[in-house]
Amino acid sequence: MKKVAVIGGGTMGNGITHVFAMNGIPVNLVEMSEELAEKALSTIEKNLDRMVKKEKIDATEKVETLESITTFTSVEDAVKDVDLVVEAVPENFELKKKVFSKVDEAAPERTILATNTSSISITKIAAATSRPEQFIGMHFFNPVPVMKLVEIVKGFETSEETYETIEETARLLDKTPIPVEDYPGFVSNRVLMPMINEAIYCVHEGVAEPEDVDSVMKLGMAHPMGPLRLADFIGLDVCLDIMNVLYEGFKDPKYRPCPLLVKMVDAGKLGDKTGEGFFEYD
Ligand code: CAA
Repeated sequence: MKKVAVIGGGTMGNGITHVFAMNGIPVNLVEMSEELAEKALSTIEKNLDRMVKKEKIDATEKVETLESITTFTSVEDAVKDVDLVVEAVPENFELKKKVFSKVDEAAPERTILATNTSSISITKIAAATSRPEQFIGMHFFNPVPVMKLVEIVKGFETSEETYETIEETARLLDKTPIPVEDYPGFVSNRVLMPMINEAIYCVHEGVAEPEDVDSVMKLGMAHPMGPLRLADFIGLDVCLDIMNVLYEGFKDPKYRPCPLLVKMVDAGKLGDKTGEGFFEYD
C-alpha cells in the first residue's frame, strides 16, 4: 500500500486520513472545496497536537504526518496514482454511486475501492462499479485515531485477495480487523443501534431521565459513554438512518425507530453537530 486516496474530509474522513498518514502511508484527501479541505486539515492538526501532548507521537511525527497529506478538490486527480481509495462521504446511496463512478473511471486497474459506509449494502455499491471483486467495506469507528476496530465487510463478489490486502492494511494502521458478511447494520450497528433505540424508548416512556439512563449504562455496564451521549456523538440523523436500514432490511418490528428519535431528527436536534440532542453542547 504505497499511496491512498480518502474521499470526504468530515468526521470519519479526516480520522481515516489521520491514521493512514500517521502510519507512513501518503494520502490524497478529497474535499468539495479548498475551505473544507483546510477545515479537515486543521482538525487533523488539532488531533495530532492532542497526541503530542499525551506523548503518543513526537513533534517530528506530527510534521511528517501533515506533510504526507495532499488535498484535492477533484476526485479524478486524487485517485489516478493510488493503490486504495477509501470513500467517506455522507450516507446516501446515489451520492456514493456518483463518487464511485468517477473513481472507477480514473483509478488504475490495480486500485482497491473501499467504502466506510455504516449501513448501505456493500454488494449494491460494488455493483455500480466495473470491479466488484476489488470492492470492500472498511468500516472505521469514531474517534478513528482512538478506536481499535475496523469491521471489514465482504460484498457478494469481493475476492479473497482483496480481503487479505485490506486485512493486512488495517493491521498496518494498528487496528484490529474483524471480518463480517454484508447484512444490514453488519455486526457493529446491528448490536449497537437497537441498544441506543431502546435507551431512547426509556426516555420516551418516562422510565428515566436521559442523564440517569446514561448513568445506568456507564456505572452498571462500564460503558465509556452512555447510549444517549453516544447517540448525540454519532448524530441522531445517522442513528435514525441506521435504524431504518435495520427495519427495512430485516422487515422485523423489533427494529422500529423510537418515535422520539424521529421527532428529534425532524426538529433538527441532531446531537453534537447542532449543539443539542439529548444533551446540550457549546
Ligand atoms: N484524536 C486523537 N485522540 C483522541 C481523539 C481524537 N479525535 N479523541 C480522544 N482522543 C484520545 C484522548 O487524547 C485520550 O487519550 P489518553 O487515553 O492518552 O488520555 C483518550 O482518547 C480518551 O479521550 P478523553 O480523555 O478526551 O475522553 P474520554 O476518556 O471520555 O474518551 C472517547 C473519549 C474515546 C470518545 C470515549 O468516551 C469512548 O470510547 N466513547 C465511545 C466511542 C464509541 O463508541 N465510538 C463508536 C461510535 S459508532 C461509530 O463510529 C460507527 C457507526 O457506524 C455509527
